[in-house]
Amino acid sequence: MRIAVMGTGPVGQALAGKLAELSHEVTVGTRDPEETLARTEPDYMGNPPFKAWLEAHPGVGLGRPAMAAADGELIVNATNGAGSIAMLEAAGEENLAGKVLVDVANPLDYSQGMPPSLFVSNTDSLGEQIQRAFPEAKVVKALNTMNCEVMVDPAKVPGEHDVFLCGEDTDAKREVAELLRRFGWPDGRIRDLGGISSARGLEMYVAFWLRLWGTLGTGYFNIAVVQAPPSS
Ligand SMILES: NC(=O)c1ccc[n+]([C@@H]2O[C@H](COP(=O)([O-])OP(=O)(O)OC[C@H]3O[C@@H](n4cnc5c(N)ncnc54)[C@H](OP(=O)(O)O)[C@@H]3O)[C@@H](O)[C@H]2O)c1
Repeated sequence: MRIAVMGTGPVGQALAGKLAELSHEVTVGTRDPEETLARTEPDYMGNPPFKAWLEAHPGVGLGRPAMAAADGELIVNATNGAGSIAMLEAAGEENLAGKVLVDVANPLDYSQGMPPSLFVSNTDSLGEQIQRAFPEAKVVKALNTMNCEVMVDPAKVPGEHDVFLCGEDTDAKREVAELLRRFGWPDGRIRDLGGISSARGLEMYVAFWLRLWGTLGTGYFNIAVVQAPPSS
């Protein structure tokens, strides 16, 4: 499948790399490809500049948002939450219409320092904002509740643990669940939380995730839902 991954940060790299490894044709979308390739500084996580990543993934393309999205049969939003709508607008509503749009972004607001707060929460979410802004796209919120290395390699955390998704379109969620299975997520651990408004809970959890990260000193952890057996 041709997949456009909007985002050149650690999440875009992790997802684009894994999808390419799974034999998908991947194009990464970025606002200004020349500027992105000219970066020489490590990213905020200390990873080498994007150009080095791209050179290590010769099968992956790079293009402006509209070019990447026009070609993609499925779109991934792995952009900074504050810039997600702008990036998707640059991708072009017509290039998103009718397509599955996997949204992994979090609405983080760093304006008051660390840890960040959320610029939308409680009665709305970034996932819903994106769905409202692009009503013809089939938005599926997924994977935003964990570190990007865990997203594409659940074995980074021992034992079975959970990945969540939500969205309005059942077939779109089925398609995303299939991708998650190919990433290594076991069937019973892919939990469908219903409609896109469940993105509120998935995004607000990130406030807790950030505190756990601070306490544990590692991003290699995840939610494992433990359930009592159904009473007979
Ligand atoms: N890091 C994680 O492990 C993790 C885990 C779960 C969810 N997330 C979420 O995943 C998303 C991506 O995170 P990240 O860590 O890879 O890096 P990031 O720095 O949050 O995002 C980088 C991407 O955002 C784009 N961007 C930044 N400002 C923009 C603006 N004003 N308008 C349009 N686009 C803009 C950049 O575009 P250019 O390429 O054009 O520069 C770049 O592609 C975020 O929403 C984050 O909260 C991250």
